[in-house]
Amino acid sequence: MEIVLNSPLDMHLHLRDQEMLNIVAPLTSHSFAGALIMPNLIPPVTTKDDLISYKERILQATKNDTFKPYMTLFFRDSYDYDFLKSFGDELTAIKLYPAGITTNSEGGVSGFDIKKLAPTLEAMSELNLPLCIHGETNGFVMDREAQFVPIYEKLATAFPKLKIIMEHITTKESVEALEKHENLYATITLHHLLITLDDVAGGMLKPHLFCKPIAKRPHDRDALQNVALKAHPKVMFGSDSAPHPQHAKESCGCAAGVFTAPIALAKLAEIFMVKSNENNLQKFISDNARVIYGITPPDKKVILEDNEMTVEQKYGDVVPMYAGEKIHWRIKGIK
Ligand code: DOR
Ligand code: ZN
Repeated sequence: MEIVLNSPLDMHLHLRDQEMLNIVAPLTSHSFAGALIMPNLIPPVTTKDDLISYKERILQATKNDTFKPYMTLFFRDSYDYDFLKSFGDELTAIKLYPAGITTNSEGGVSGFDIKKLAPTLEAMSELNLPLCIHGETNGFVMDREAQFVPIYEKLATAFPKLKIIMEHITTKESVEALEKHENLYATITLHHLLITLDDVAGGMLKPHLFCKPIAKRPHDRDALQNVALKAHPKVMFGSDSAPHPQHAKESCGCAAGVFTAPIALAKLAEIFMVKSNENNLQKFISDNARVIYGITPPDKKVILEDNEMTVEQKYGDVVPMYAGEKIHWRIKGIK
């Protein structure tokens, strides 16, 4: 059996820079028509020069493929209307990290004082620039995302014209919040559709499944699967594929991030063709994001077939999810 996907999009992707960029970017650009590129470099992407030159390096690394990088800035409450307007089409969204919550987020927001954030968020509303949020507090690790939901709700109410994307949601509470506010949307990763905390730490510790936010309970995974598999119009695929070198994962201070870029489409096809269907996969992987972000990605057709493949052990120095294991679908061709 074969399925054809039109212009798949990954609406949350970490590509890093330099050598790592050159290894990982082609693994996404091969099969995706575009991706929303996260700005948590060292230092983070905060100026027009940073953003344009990072985009050029991405285009250089992906030059053999039809691929559009949709660029983001790292949120600062000093951004004003004129500054943001000056980006024109070069800027697709702004990513907000709570300070210190994950990899390279030290310069993020502390305290969530709405008055302090308001000028930037109002400018974003006027410019129709979506706000992507890593929604975790610094509370107990399993409760961080659920504790952040009232902050999402406060922002959604205070800025009703602002599109707020709850990034890489992992809880039933976040899924429920989608229904309560018209301007809340969400990305869902591949790994959070598949694993719970048991897979990470229930047996021998699995560093390659450790990420932020950490995978939660079975009922949370069920809630994510429920909205993703029916392609709820407010959810879209965002892999949060986050490469780290093997030594940074297999060490006594394991870096957070699951590297899924090379397996994402094949594994999603496997899941959707058992538990849902091709039409819903098309919506989850592309159509919903086009509507939510108002983007038109380049044309690209990805043909997948239900034929087994074995996942590579490593790409450069990065170990992918399911390294050495079998996936029952694979990419047959790209047009
Ligand atoms: O696990 C994660 N890794 N979560 C994030 O939010 C950041 C990412 C990274 O950049 O490594
Ligand atoms: Zn991320």
